[in-house]
Amino acid sequence: MENRENFGTKLGAILAAAGSAVGLGNVWRFPIETGENGGAAFIIIYILCIIALGLPIMISEFLIGRHTHSNTAGAYRILANGTKWKWVGRLGVFTGWLILCYYGVVGGWTLHYTALSATNAFKGVPASQFGDIFNNLVSDPCVPALWLLLFTAITHYVITQGVQSGIEKFSKIMMPTLFIITIMLTVCSLMLPGASEGVRFLLMPDWSKVTSTTILEAMGQAFFSLSLGMGCLCNYASYFEPSTPLAKTALNVSVIDTVIAIMAGFIIFPSVFNIGMDPNEVGAGASLTFVSLPNVFQQAFGDGSILAVIFSTLFYFLLFVAALTSAISLHEVATAYITEEFNMPRKKGATIITCSIFVFGLLCSLSFGPLSGITLFGRNIFSMFDDLSGMILLPLGGMLIAIFAGWVLDRQLYREEITNSGEIRAPYFRLLIFALRYVAPIAIGLVFLDQLGAFNFLK
Ligand code: TRP
Repeated sequence: MENRENFGTKLGAILAAAGSAVGLGNVWRFPIETGENGGAAFIIIYILCIIALGLPIMISEFLIGRHTHSNTAGAYRILANGTKWKWVGRLGVFTGWLILCYYGVVGGWTLHYTALSATNAFKGVPASQFGDIFNNLVSDPCVPALWLLLFTAITHYVITQGVQSGIEKFSKIMMPTLFIITIMLTVCSLMLPGASEGVRFLLMPDWSKVTSTTILEAMGQAFFSLSLGMGCLCNYASYFEPSTPLAKTALNVSVIDTVIAIMAGFIIFPSVFNIGMDPNEVGAGASLTFVSLPNVFQQAFGDGSILAVIFSTLFYFLLFVAALTSAISLHEVATAYITEEFNMPRKKGATIITCSIFVFGLLCSLSFGPLSGITLFGRNIFSMFDDLSGMILLPLGGMLIAIFAGWVLDRQLYREEITNSGEIRAPYFRLLIFALRYVAPIAIGLVFLDQLGAFNFLK
């Protein structure tokens, strides 16, 4: 790769990787799982998973990417030429593409809800009708498709601008915006009457809710939230300068991701407690975000009041920004793959990916309406994309990456890279290798088996 671009600055590299990590997983999935799994107890387990699994795998993905300066599929081909390991890279590209297809649909919903909030459309809506508003949106054949088109078009635009003037420049604008909105919303939410109950819930561990499933969920969430298991960060790391410190960057990205996730909890739970709702009853998945929360915000800040409008608009805009920077990182994996492996100009490669994710995204979107009859294992098309990638392919990919980094990669090469050829000290090196060889494959293997069970193939 002669004229391959790099990120211009170390800060740009961190912000781009953090943009990938901070996504719907932080603002949406993390608070829900915290709510269902004993508040602080879940947060503590989650942080342990980040340290024991997340960091070692993230460092390895960075290392593989930076060392090979290649797209994810190319990276494994270069490091283990002529072996079956090249399939790990290809599997990653496919997994990312699958995630991207349904992720854009949700990205479109966040745009719709930003618009509804900004126009004060939730004013005076009775609590019982928020479900209908959401169901009418997702089952409509046209409206979500138009928002999906807009979301995909913005992603496409950034990608076509290239690594430095597209991804990096955009991350440098969007990530600070995201931090500022998160802080504003957190402060606002903490000032609500009764907020202290929400805070207590997030800080006082309730260990009675913790079961083995909690631990498995925390691992799965750590993986998804840190964008691990498919080479997304490996691909971004292929644009790192040789002097970028790998472990420190991984630590920065993990801390940013975790702080934003916990702050999302501080945005959501004070309002939930303020209106006297039980955190276990706010509903799972999409219904928390698009059914409970719009109502919670109206009631907590005053129905139709200017504060409710601002809070709710900023919240959905935050979700949109978070989703967008993650979608960009996923798009880049696929774009880098086809442009480099099939020797195409970047614009052409990006256009092929954009068209394909729009078409399959459309199928995902329509699977809540006209195509709801098409199901496999009791899932509509959207859930099939979601579950196949999240429950099966990501843990599988993560396990293979850990095994590759721990057992296959040359130990000396690993040490060279992690110390930037002796410039940085790495006293944790043995611990890292131990985590990669034993802890990660076993732990992820357990998650995997658990999720296969949840998938109920044989039923
Ligand atoms: N981490 C993002 C989130 O929290 C989603 C994401 C982006 C992702 N790239 C990924 C998840 C790669 C798994 C793998 O929403």
